[in-house]
Amino acid sequence: MTDAALDRDLPAGSRLPALQIGRLRIWPPVLQAPMAALTHPATRTIAERFGCGLAVTEFVPAAGLAAGAVRVRARMRPSHGGGPLAVQIYGREPRQMERAAAIAAEGGAALVDLNLGCPSKRVSRGQCGAALMREPALAAELVRAVVEGVAGRAEVTVKLRAGWDATQRNAPELAVLLVAAGAAAVTVHGRTREQRFGGAVDYELIAQVKAAVAVPVIANGDIKDVPTLEHALRVSRADGAMIGRAAIGDPWLFARLKAWCEGLPPPRPPSARERIATYLEHCRLHLACCDDEGRAVQQMRTFAGRYLAPLDADLRLRPAINRLDRLEAIEAMLYQHCDAVG
Ligand SMILES: Cc1cc2nc3c(=O)[nH]c(=O)nc-3n(C[C@H](O)[C@H](O)[C@H](O)COP(=O)(O)O)c2cc1C
Repeated sequence: MTDAALDRDLPAGSRLPALQIGRLRIWPPVLQAPMAALTHPATRTIAERFGCGLAVTEFVPAAGLAAGAVRVRARMRPSHGGGPLAVQIYGREPRQMERAAAIAAEGGAALVDLNLGCPSKRVSRGQCGAALMREPALAAELVRAVVEGVAGRAEVTVKLRAGWDATQRNAPELAVLLVAAGAAAVTVHGRTREQRFGGAVDYELIAQVKAAVAVPVIANGDIKDVPTLEHALRVSRADGAMIGRAAIGDPWLFARLKAWCEGLPPPRPPSARERIATYLEHCRLHLACCDDEGRAVQQMRTFAGRYLAPLDADLRLRPAINRLDRLEAIEAMLYQHCDAVG
């Protein structure tokens, strides 16, 4: 099927409708993807500030949450900005999932998402995440357990892949079962588990999911700017989009996508000083949640490359940051560099 065949009436210079998941209204219909060790409260705060409609926590193990592990519970801390809390959990034991969902809802979650997409073999010896796409009856049972756990206090959603591999692309059939079990929306990363994070994203398969269910569908995979957002939405006919890697260190992407959703011209690109200030603010917000400055600064290194790329023509900033473990020292070095290059 061609793009044109799937074209729909996105008004020119468009204003998309808000994404409505149960009682939760999400505007713009652009979400930040859950990303392990990256979408901590600081990252979600920055994303919300720049115009992301909803930011999801990294995946949280239901077993640890249900057992009351303090470090695990810390992963579902809300952002600093007051945006709705969306907690993603994973597991394969229904009673644990029910308990974890109840804890998330008690902790203020407006949405609890069930991970059916993680490709990792390490996660619960590979039996959770995408592996559950091969066990449709259990996956549906888990959704029912999570619905029971939240007891009407939060919306329950699922995040799938296209399927396990090229021979088992069952997202449309599975989505039907999961919605019947109580899922109020479905996010689809349009790759199979076998593809992991490479290869083509199949937005047409997401269109099949959209045609199969009566709840909102969110398209995910390789959306990195306005043209790819527009393409993904046109082909998949999804109600919203989820952005992962492209926004790491580029929260301005959310501002650009929001402007497009609103039918406004793109905002001007950030200046060097704005990039530095936003990176430092992101670091400070993360530091506020950690008791160890060295570790927090280290964890924030993943974001530095993209934040600072336009200032780092000779590729010296990254290694310089990697040698520092105090935020004050990083700040002084970055502004010195900025003054030196004008
Ligand atoms: C570092 C990293 C961590 C991720 N962690 C999670 C996770 O915790 N839960 C989840 O559902 N997906 C996770 N994903 C997958 C993303 O949510 C998303 O589906 C995938 O990256 C495709 O979207 P993108 O092309 O916009 O990055 C992770 C991806 C990356 C790169």
